[in-house]
Amino acid sequence: METTQIKFYYKNVMAEVLGKEYGITKGQFDELAKMTTPLIERLNSERKAGKVRYRDLPYQSDTVEDVKKIAGEVKGCENFVVLGIGGSALGNIALQTALNPYMYNLDEKQRKGPRLFVFDNVDPQQIKSFLDWAGDKLDRTIFNVISKSGRTAETAAQFLTVCGLIEQRIGKDKLKERIIATTDAKGGTLRKITKQFGFRNLQVPDGVGGRFSVLSAVGLLSAAVCGINIEQLLAGAAKMDKKVSLEDFYQNPAAVNAAINWHYYNIGKRISVMMPYSFALKDFADWYRQLWAESLGKAKDLTGSDVFVGPTPIKALGATDQHSQVQLYREGPNDKLFTFLSVQDFGTDVEIGKAPDIAPELGYLSGQKMSRLINNEKTATEYALLASKRPCLTVAFDKIDPYTVGQFIYLFETATSIAGLLFNIDAYDQPAVELGKDATLALMGNSDYAQLAEKIKPFEQMDSRFII
Ligand code: PA5
Repeated sequence: METTQIKFYYKNVMAEVLGKEYGITKGQFDELAKMTTPLIERLNSERKAGKVRYRDLPYQSDTVEDVKKIAGEVKGCENFVVLGIGGSALGNIALQTALNPYMYNLDEKQRKGPRLFVFDNVDPQQIKSFLDWAGDKLDRTIFNVISKSGRTAETAAQFLTVCGLIEQRIGKDKLKERIIATTDAKGGTLRKITKQFGFRNLQVPDGVGGRFSVLSAVGLLSAAVCGINIEQLLAGAAKMDKKVSLEDFYQNPAAVNAAINWHYYNIGKRISVMMPYSFALKDFADWYRQLWAESLGKAKDLTGSDVFVGPTPIKALGATDQHSQVQLYREGPNDKLFTFLSVQDFGTDVEIGKAPDIAPELGYLSGQKMSRLINNEKTATEYALLASKRPCLTVAFDKIDPYTVGQFIYLFETATSIAGLLFNIDAYDQPAVELGKDATLALMGNSDYAQLAEKIKPFEQMDSRFII
């Protein structure tokens, strides 16, 4: 059993570091505790009542069995391709970047499964390039189409294109062998097609929205196929479940994280920057961006009143973005809360090479560990931000492994739920995304949306009066 942990560190948002004007005083923190404690209780009872279904994902042993069975059947393929978008792709990408080596796809020695590709878009250049490469490898390639609704235009387009290519190159009878569908258990277009064609399939559990679904079959299959220990991932989430269910605010990292974010939002720090000091964690910053933005950006509160709330999540990467963003972060408007992700043990290291005699000024680097450099860069950047009175949180990973990644996912999902309750909004819907989806269907000629298409027409053509 793994014992590695993530630790949530929040001293650098407190008044004792930032001063009373910029930091949170003990009194304010106690007020946040008073405000948030009943919300933890509420979330716990909603969860018990079966209304927060993602919280139970760490315990879905049937799903794990189903996923492992299919993974075992297809593991020998050369290429595994996820067709999906948003919540049906970002978690897959994040797990892969976090838990498999940087050169996984290119170096056979570094990989324990097939190459992994996740489209997450409908860019013709990207997809054409992939299809040109994969066209003669289709008999060694498995496609996992993931769509809860089964009606998302991007995923449907990827799917239809791939099906067309399979039919044309290796025959219609091969569709069943090459495609695995992950979709709603009962309804939707993809479920209908799955039944008709007899695809191997997995379920997106009822009541679990895309952005909360990485620990379901949505994220688990590609992870398992690529050699990631999904049991450890879920065990890590289950471990965090214990912590984030604690009704003692001061011991509950999800509650403290949500409350700090909410506090700073209310005093004008409406931008939330997640900055991993680890390449492996960079795509989790993307995953977080979706989770935070789509869950908390809402026009109406739970009473139906207009509120137009939502912190803006931003992704940055340390140390790269020190040379791109930090000038703004320190000297621009003090409107951001920073969350660093740091890693204590990278599990490997690189010794920095020797400086040539001609450049003794580089000698201080020679022979030092790269991990020491990147971790010192994090400390240095945080120090510089604190000098400019910018509040900073840290999530410190003992190590990046499935167990800590599972903890991280569950921590941020639960923090999102608690933040949703603090903002008094529905964190689980995305009405604004739906309109864009409908508009795409209308523009693509779907006859069910003909009326909408009429409304969009004026925006379709560029108005020459405004072209310069
Ligand atoms: O979080 C969400 O609900 C969205 O990002 C969806 O995951 C995304 O729009 C894709 O939807 P679907 O899985 O229904 O194709």
